[in-house]
Amino acid sequence: MKAAVIYASTTGNTEAMANAISEAVKASGAEVVFASADGAEKEAVTACDVILLGSPAMGDEVLEDSMEEFYSGIEASLGGKKVAIFGSYDWGDGQWLRDWNDRLSNAGAVSVAEPLMVHLTPEDADLEKCREWAASAVK
Ligand SMILES: Cc1cc2nc3c(=O)[nH]c(=O)nc-3n(C[C@H](O)[C@H](O)[C@H](O)COP(=O)(O)O)c2cc1C
Repeated sequence: MKAAVIYASTTGNTEAMANAISEAVKASGAEVVFASADGAEKEAVTACDVILLGSPAMGDEVLEDSMEEFYSGIEASLGGKKVAIFGSYDWGDGQWLRDWNDRLSNAGAVSVAEPLMVHLTPEDADLEKCREWAASAVK
């Protein structure tokens, strides 16, 4: 089993989530393809059994630019793929993740976990949630 953990992060918050998620995926025995959105290889990611994508809420409830670019590039290849999304936010109510989840459904992706959001910097309890979320997503 191979899982991709691909993230974008401007101040390290979503990156901290991605690190915890990656650790938990590895601990479950899966192989991990771990990369930032601007360094990720589309083919290597879409070849994975499970794809976990992270982006903070940016602009007005949209994805961070590098994730928007990466995600747009793989969106048409996600039919039947197991995908879940995560990210950090501040003042909103999670609209960016709901919109992203709708895009995933429209692309025919299979959700393996509810979208996971953390307010600003993840605390220890949030990181534990990230690890549990990841473990259930790759089950
Ligand atoms: C330019 C900019 C736009 C943002 N837009 C939103 C937004 O629309 N909704 C929201 O909840 N938070 C918004 N935020 C807050 C970030 O999502 C939040 O600071 C998050 O923790 C950043 O995560 P990161 O360190 O992984 O980039 C914005 C922050 C910046 C700097």
